[in-house]
Amino acid sequence: MAKKNTSVALAPSIALIHLAMLLFLVCCTDSSSVADFLFNSFEQASNLSLDGSALVLRSGALQLTDGNNNVMGHAFLDTPVRMVGINKMAVSFSTCFVFDIVATGTGGGYGLAFVVAPSKVLPGASREDYLGILGPSTNGRSSNHVFAIEFDTVLSVQGFNDTNYNHVGVDINSLVSNVSEPAAYYTDDDKKKVAVKLESAQPIQAWVDYDGGAHVLNVTIAPAALSTHKPHRPLISARLDLSTVFRESMYIGFSSATGKLASSHYILAWSFRSEGAAQDIDLSRLPDVPKPRPPARGRSTPRSAIIRIAAPACAGTLFSMAMVMVGVLWLRRKAALAETLEDWEVNHPHRFPYKDLHRATKGFSDSQLIGQGGFGQVYKGVLHGASDVVAIKRISSNAGQGMREFVAEIASLGRVRHRNLVELRGWCKRGQDLLLVYEFMPNGSLDAILFGKGTREREEEEEEAPTTTTTLTWAQRLHILKGVAFGLVYLHEEWEHVVVHRDVKASNVLLGADMGARLGDFGLARLYEHGADPVTTHVVGTIGYMAPEMAVTSRPTTATDVFAFGALLLEVTCGRRPTSAGGGGGTHNLVSWVRHCGFHGQFLRAVDPRLHGSYDEEEVTLVLWLGLMCSHSIPEARPSMRQVCNYLNGDETLQPDDSLLLSSTDHSAQLFGPPISMTWTSCGSMSADSLPSGR
Ligand SMILES: *[C@@H]1O[C@H](CO)[C@@H](O)[C@H](O)[C@H]1NC(C)=O
Ligand SMILES: *[C@@H]1O[C@H](CO)[C@@H](O)[C@H](O)[C@H]1NC(C)=O
Ligand SMILES: *[C@@H]1O[C@H](CO)[C@@H](O)[C@H](O)[C@H]1NC(C)=O
Ligand SMILES: *[C@@H]1O[C@H](CO)[C@@H](O)[C@H](O)[C@H]1NC(C)=O
Repeated sequence: MAKKNTSVALAPSIALIHLAMLLFLVCCTDSSSVADFLFNSFEQASNLSLDGSALVLRSGALQLTDGNNNVMGHAFLDTPVRMVGINKMAVSFSTCFVFDIVATGTGGGYGLAFVVAPSKVLPGASREDYLGILGPSTNGRSSNHVFAIEFDTVLSVQGFNDTNYNHVGVDINSLVSNVSEPAAYYTDDDKKKVAVKLESAQPIQAWVDYDGGAHVLNVTIAPAALSTHKPHRPLISARLDLSTVFRESMYIGFSSATGKLASSHYILAWSFRSEGAAQDIDLSRLPDVPKPRPPARGRSTPRSAIIRIAAPACAGTLFSMAMVMVGVLWLRRKAALAETLEDWEVNHPHRFPYKDLHRATKGFSDSQLIGQGGFGQVYKGVLHGASDVVAIKRISSNAGQGMREFVAEIASLGRVRHRNLVELRGWCKRGQDLLLVYEFMPNGSLDAILFGKGTREREEEEEEAPTTTTTLTWAQRLHILKGVAFGLVYLHEEWEHVVVHRDVKASNVLLGADMGARLGDFGLARLYEHGADPVTTHVVGTIGYMAPEMAVTSRPTTATDVFAFGALLLEVTCGRRPTSAGGGGGTHNLVSWVRHCGFHGQFLRAVDPRLHGSYDEEEVTLVLWLGLMCSHSIPEARPSMRQVCNYLNGDETLQPDDSLLLSSTDHSAQLFGPPISMTWTSCGSMSADSLPSGR
């Protein structure tokens, strides 16, 4: 009895403690959790992260795509929103926005979407039907944790199961919608369903409401001109549990993409609220969008602004003249610290303000310097708050006119997204300096890991000796090589136009947190070519990775990239640089050494001794043969990067060709020379085939 009494007495106090804890938790999480905002225009929206073609127009409209083909743009709120409550359930939320789609031709594309995603950067995102949200490599994976409401204006039957060319869909981890309906709204008497043309060049309001407790998602649209309130009956009402889709903290925003078909996609206003109803948008104050597409944009505005300032001064008192002068002086001073933009720079997306980059790197302080190479210094930088770490490459160039072409190219390369390519986030030009902002790669470069000497570029004078550093396993090496190969296939064949990397080498292969390979600096060599004196042809590349025909044609091609990749295959397998000055004064050539070993039937002798024999012999042999194939002195005889991938993946069987062991006439004498027992250092000064500078 007594026992029972005490437990009864204790119960209320335990309940109180629980209540207190619950209140405490609610209070603590509340500050970061509940998002409640309204952008009636994006004029003051400094807290949006934009990328790609996304831009806030002067009118205050948020432009996601600019009417050009093959672009994509994202706009995310730069702070994440808590989307899973303490009970592990997806929180209720409601959002409302007004969009406007203006087709470029008679039929535009491809649509826009409201997106909830685990990061502001959507890895592997593609244009066209993927709307910049997912891509062929990520579509359909539950690990995406992506939720989107798509407003799709192109019928993509193949693989996407689209309803029609004008529909609204609910997408979970895939662009194949879970639910989709032709765009329409119900009149309030619930009887009539009225079709809405998404590409109407008129503002359309959309509401997305999710009830986390009941697991119900409603999507409603209506032309902004017709209806100021939400139609009672939603277009889509679906039972969905988003608790497994959402992560605790998610980024919310918009994505849009164009392709062969193009539209300008705009968001005019946006409100959002978690755990409650989103605030109403004031439809009478919506920003304007340019319609139809503006003719070549005039640059007269700054001048007319100055005239407007100056006019009252002429008419007015000495005092106002003095004010103007003070103003002018102040503006000058400000200009010295701030941007000086040439006309052409304004129209390129991805441009970062100089002062942001200056701040991110603590004024390009030495403490932030993480690398220094042939192309310039690399700084670690932190943008907007602590979470966004980037690598900023500063290149000094007097490329002049070449800079303009180069930036055009860089701006277009900024759209390249592939898991094996380092993402170029943007750029900034200041005087002679070009600043390129890349995603930060925590594990540094392959070169540094293989040879443990920090970020060195170009040829080394020091003696080559294998250093003791963390040795990559064979499996890691193969994974890295495959990654680089995928990245190159993408640049060569899968992107919108052929991109020749021009400088494939170990120091340009960076390693992500998962030790996956990311190829960096693509297109950079171009700057030096653009900027080169037109009289003397300037060859860019790195000795040892440069194909022999470069000496004759100076023209980089996909085949010269394959050659460089061949050098990388051998380098990573053998743990030796492609060429290096040896202690004896001679130059060693890795290709010759591998041929030499192969010729004597002892291929595996060439393998990095630091692997201590722990590797799959078949794989290693395949990679060595492939390295030799890619190193063929005749470009036509090299495989394409696509074939290289097929071989590496085992989709195609490589037929070893013994003539590869002999292919370089320069070396035949050597090959019959020293027996295999010779050490590396004595293994030949036979590098003519890959040292174009010698010719
Ligand atoms: C965005 O920033 C403005 C001012 O900087 C602030 O008033 C507003 O609350 C912010 N909005 C969000 C959603 O963080
Ligand atoms: C597309 O729709 C068809 C028939 O409605 C269905 O059998 C198929 O599984 C769907 N495809 C996908 C990828 O959902
Ligand atoms: C719908 O969503 C679930 C995730 O909740 C997903 O697993 C499923 O494949 C989706 N169905 C279709 C037809 O896309
Ligand atoms: C969704 O719509 C239905 C009516 O079709 C309504 O009963 C329900 O309350 C709505 N839920 C939300 C979260 O708006």
